[in-house]
Amino acid sequence: MFSFTSLFFSLLLLFTSTTTAQSYNATDRIFLDCGSSSTTITDRRWGGDENSKFVPSNIATITFSSQPNYLDPSVPLTPYSSARIFNTSSFTYTFPVSEGPKFVRLYFYPATYSGLTPNQSFFSVSSNGYSLLTNFSAFLAASFLANTRSGVKHFVKEYIIHVKETKILNVTFTPSPKSYAFINGIEIVSTPENLYFNSINVKYVGMINGPVITNDTSLENIYRLNVAGGQISSIEDTGMYRSWDPDDNYIYSAATGVTDVYQKPITYTTKTPNYTAPELVYQTQRSMGSQSDKYNLTWILPVDSGFYYNLRLHFCNIMPECTKGGQIVFKIFINNQTADQEFDLFYLQRGSGYPVYKDYVVFVNDPDHSRGKQDLWIEMHPHPSSTLYLDAYLNGLEAFKLSMGRSLTSPNPELSSTTPQTRHTKSMTRNKKRPPYAMIIGGIGGALVLFSILVLIVFKQRRRAKHYCVATNMSSYGHEYIESKSSHSKLPSDRCRCFSLTEVKAATNEFNDNFVIGRGGFGMVYRGYIDNDKTVVAIKRLNSSSKQGFHEFITEIGFLSKLRHVQLVSLIGYCDDQGEMILVYDYMPNGTLQEHLYKNNNPPLSWKRRLHICIGAAKGLHYLHTGASRAIIHRDVKSTNILLDENWVAKLSDFGLSKLGSKDQAKNHVS
Ligand SMILES: *[C@@H]1O[C@H](CO)[C@@H](O)[C@H](O)[C@H]1NC(C)=O
Ligand SMILES: *[C@@H]1O[C@H](CO)[C@@H](O)[C@H](O)[C@H]1NC(C)=O
Ligand SMILES: *[C@@H]1O[C@H](CO)[C@@H](O)[C@H](O)[C@H]1NC(C)=O
Ligand SMILES: *[C@@H]1O[C@H](CO)[C@@H](O)[C@H](O)[C@H]1NC(C)=O
Ligand SMILES: *[C@@H]1O[C@H](CO)[C@@H](O)[C@H](O)[C@H]1NC(C)=O
Ligand SMILES: *[C@@H]1O[C@H](CO)[C@@H](O)[C@H](O)[C@H]1NC(C)=O
Ligand SMILES: *[C@@H]1O[C@H](CO)[C@@H](O)[C@H](O)[C@H]1NC(C)=O
Ligand SMILES: *[C@@H]1O[C@H](CO)[C@@H](O)[C@H](O)[C@H]1NC(C)=O
Ligand SMILES: *[C@@H]1O[C@H](CO)[C@@H](O)[C@H](O)[C@H]1NC(C)=O
Repeated sequence: MFSFTSLFFSLLLLFTSTTTAQSYNATDRIFLDCGSSSTTITDRRWGGDENSKFVPSNIATITFSSQPNYLDPSVPLTPYSSARIFNTSSFTYTFPVSEGPKFVRLYFYPATYSGLTPNQSFFSVSSNGYSLLTNFSAFLAASFLANTRSGVKHFVKEYIIHVKETKILNVTFTPSPKSYAFINGIEIVSTPENLYFNSINVKYVGMINGPVITNDTSLENIYRLNVAGGQISSIEDTGMYRSWDPDDNYIYSAATGVTDVYQKPITYTTKTPNYTAPELVYQTQRSMGSQSDKYNLTWILPVDSGFYYNLRLHFCNIMPECTKGGQIVFKIFINNQTADQEFDLFYLQRGSGYPVYKDYVVFVNDPDHSRGKQDLWIEMHPHPSSTLYLDAYLNGLEAFKLSMGRSLTSPNPELSSTTPQTRHTKSMTRNKKRPPYAMIIGGIGGALVLFSILVLIVFKQRRRAKHYCVATNMSSYGHEYIESKSSHSKLPSDRCRCFSLTEVKAATNEFNDNFVIGRGGFGMVYRGYIDNDKTVVAIKRLNSSSKQGFHEFITEIGFLSKLRHVQLVSLIGYCDDQGEMILVYDYMPNGTLQEHLYKNNNPPLSWKRRLHICIGAAKGLHYLHTGASRAIIHRDVKSTNILLDENWVAKLSDFGLSKLGSKDQAKNHVS
């Protein structure tokens, strides 16, 4: 009894304390747990839809509730452990709300419900006369999201609809023919009148005039990023239950710049009220570091073509040494068009710690009328007139799709490979004058041929591959950069060697077949001799006819050139000459551990040696987890990725699936 009561009060406390701390007190706050008949309190109060006032009384006859056959451990129980299924006709939820703009959030977990497989579900959703989704497959949508956010199983679609004098918000689900519709949860939350609507401070990119977001526009939030920061959960938002994602999955190539962190409170203003975005958004930013004149800080956001988008860029000057106009001025490009020629925060605010946001509206072309996905590019570059630093920075980013003819719908994406695309690179530092403690992760690793992995990576990277061919004429990571089209390589030469093609040819006897120690779709691996034949090396020559490997090439170099440990494979150097992409590693005479476990041509390993290899691999992992300021999670530990040197010392390789762990030790889950 006692424990029940104290539990009750602590839940109550949790609930009330989160609501009082918020800057915006939303008039309407509805959390509907669909397919459930009871109330659940998590960080908010979820009501079941079964007996709610929002549904017609025949709910139990024309719909049914169901539970997913399997709930992935990464998926929260509420609202995903139940769903309402609509398999016969349309069904409408009716929410009496106040007038004004509302967030409408739809929670989906595609799974098998009552024997109905996720690939059988196609349906439409409309709300107050706006078509939000047509013939929508949550299954295909989740598989597309998994490309950039690995491991994603559930997702939320977020819309903003302006409710008129009728004070009714209705949400209608209609299954496609011979199909079924489902929903796990619906959330309705008011948003301030002028936060997203009727803004006057809008810039049009690539057009003289464009749409104004009026009360008749409905919006879909596509991205909401806390640039260079961590995940901000909906309960940490300023009262609107928005969640903010890290930008790592969208930052282009290895050109991540540096991260700046501000420890002081943010000063909100009437132009940027305290509900605009949480302090955490403004307290971290990504800036460019040195070499900023050589590259563009770039984000790539896949979006549906054929729509206007409103991009809201959030900025805050958090560099105390920057105190007046003209000191840091930069250019902003959106989709390769100049959005701002000379952006200077000081024209918009007063000093350090003052946040501002700016809206840019851009049309995303639909060249083949397919309404398919297109990449939206956001790029920044310092303006040469800056008097303090040549730099550019961003703190937060929100992207909204604007309705056209009362519709926000696009076709389903094609079924993607189920393996998530490998993403990469992040660098962390608090001191922008210090070189960043940059750790570049990704790419192909391994001194020897791990062809299955390579093939996987090629496959995973294929969707993005076209950018590597053309886009990366200046790609950068940390403080180094490379000019891929020219032969004047500027890869890091302080930490690893730059070989000429002539040297590599000499090392391999003109890439002689007798020197081949492995081959695969991605290229060849040769044994080679350098330094007057004194040193044996493994030379991986990436197929330069397919430039797909360029990204892997530079990230592998960036990463391995910065991490050194006896239990990690060492990169000696690279060759970026005449269009070649060649990596030179320490030679590992004993090959992969796998060859000694499963290929029976080799004598069996002694137990002592096996134990040493296990301990060595564990030490390598321990170094990755604890040796740098942020943990590196390898995520692909297996016997083909453990190489053995002449003394049978185990060396970890292939960081292609690795990820940086969370800054927050408490949130150490990486799927
Ligand atoms: C929020 O608004 C409701 C009424 O709309 C009011 O009862 C409540 O006290 C307000 N909460 C805060 C923290 O202002
Ligand atoms: C936000 O600003 C409003 C009005 O300026 C103020 O009343 C409120 O206390 C502030 N909320 C927080 C959490 O700072
Ligand atoms: C809908 O599902 C119910 C319960 O599983 C089933 O009895 C009914 O036949 C289904 N209707 C259609 C049209 O599939
Ligand atoms: C938009 O709706 C608000 C009420 O939510 C109203 O006050 C405002 O006048 C409307 N604006 C226009 C342009 O209709
Ligand atoms: C749908 O998924 C089920 C189970 O995963 C599979 O057996 C079936 O072939 C799939 N159907 C289609 C049309 O892809
Ligand atoms: C939903 O709301 C819209 C606009 O208020 C209205 O036109 C439509 O008839 C409503 N639909 C249902 C099913 O109530
Ligand atoms: C930055 O992006 C703009 C627009 O796409 C482009 O014109 C410019 O060449 C880029 N600059 C660098 C250094 O990559
Ligand atoms: C619904 O979408 C699926 C997959 O995208 C497609 O195969 C099917 O033809 C579509 N159905 C309709 C009615 O548009
Ligand atoms: C922007 O430029 C890059 C590289 O030049 C190119 O790959 C991309 O397709 C361009 N994007 C648009 C929308 O034109």
